[in-house]
Amino acid sequence: MIEVGIFGATSYTGLELISLLVNHPYACIGFAASFSKAGEILSDSFPKMPPLPLISPGEADLSSVDLVFLCLPHGEAAETAIQALEAGCKVIDLSADFRLKDAAVYKQWYGKDHPQPDLLADACYGLTEITRESISGCSLVANPGCYPTSVLLPLYPLVQEGLLHGQVIVDSKSGVSGAGRRPKETTHFVSVNDNFSPYSIGRTHRHLPEMEQVLQDWGSGQTGMLFSPHLLPVSRGILSTIYAPTKNGTNLDTLHNLYQSTYQNEPFIELLAPGKHATLAHVVHTNMCTIGIALADSTVILTAALDNLIKGASGQAVQNMNAIYGWEETSGLIFTGGHHAST
Ligand SMILES: NC(=O)c1ccc[n+]([C@@H]2O[C@H](COP(=O)([O-])OP(=O)(O)OC[C@H]3O[C@@H](n4cnc5c(N)ncnc54)[C@H](OP(=O)(O)O)[C@@H]3O)[C@@H](O)[C@H]2O)c1
Repeated sequence: MIEVGIFGATSYTGLELISLLVNHPYACIGFAASFSKAGEILSDSFPKMPPLPLISPGEADLSSVDLVFLCLPHGEAAETAIQALEAGCKVIDLSADFRLKDAAVYKQWYGKDHPQPDLLADACYGLTEITRESISGCSLVANPGCYPTSVLLPLYPLVQEGLLHGQVIVDSKSGVSGAGRRPKETTHFVSVNDNFSPYSIGRTHRHLPEMEQVLQDWGSGQTGMLFSPHLLPVSRGILSTIYAPTKNGTNLDTLHNLYQSTYQNEPFIELLAPGKHATLAHVVHTNMCTIGIALADSTVILTAALDNLIKGASGQAVQNMNAIYGWEETSGLIFTGGHHAST
């Protein structure tokens, strides 16, 4: 049994993580740290949650835990990561701080100098299905963004097979919890309810460089991806529709066989029958990424759905912890209808 610490315990991802960890067979919560609710009992503010005492981040005894999860805004996460690593903890960071390898690219997209650029080279990208071998020996795991997870898992088989041939266009829709707990004008109920809005479209969203970096690492030769996210009037869930031009001559059965052979042993990837499409109902409150494949002329149209707070964040973080310690990857991720506190 290991002990873990959580920073940002009352964030949406922090609450989801706690819900998962209370049922984990090999990890227990050593401390839950919160800036906003230090000194309180978690269940006082979040009635479906366990009665965990919340400590202030400064009180956290890093020497008492084996691993910490950082459910913090970018910038804040890197500062806590260095302290945890120096105390000998492993770190799984749910923020964007260690996803980009180049501090200059981080500055370009996040508008400030990277707080700990020397750590960037040590971080492993935690897209578990693809990178589990490198994660197993890693002390600092960068949990992927929610949108990138929904785009990279479905694109991977095409890239591996060298089938991409031209510009990929991604149209994604996310529930409002993807924007975090702090309300903004655009995420206010009245702005979101009965509405459906694009934002940061084309080549302006911060998840774009993350996806392009990974595609380059995979040797795709893909440049100039277009990525257009939208805000859906639901609490949680992401559906990405991906238009991937391929070389002529591909057929749907061949593609389906390719995806089946790539993902048949993956417990958290559901491949739909040819022509069936992924929906939010396939995945919400689960750690699944559901993928549908269709073909129009020589363009593969992938639909991929996941729960942004689970497979897109805290579930994938637990999966990464399981990979670090060599536990069954499904440990703590079997859903029995337990706590789902945040939304
Ligand atoms: N929401 C998603 O779907 C999602 C998916 C993947 C990744 N992520 C990333 O995971 C991280 C957490 O996301 P979230 O959506 O769960 O966050 P959130 O709900 O917006 O909460 C962030 C939390 O960080 C803590 N915090 C500590 N220092 C802070 C500061 N200076 N300013 C504001 N908050 C501070 C607060 O919790 P305490 O008061 O309890 O400390 C706050 O509630 C972010 O980096 C986000 O980009 C989010």
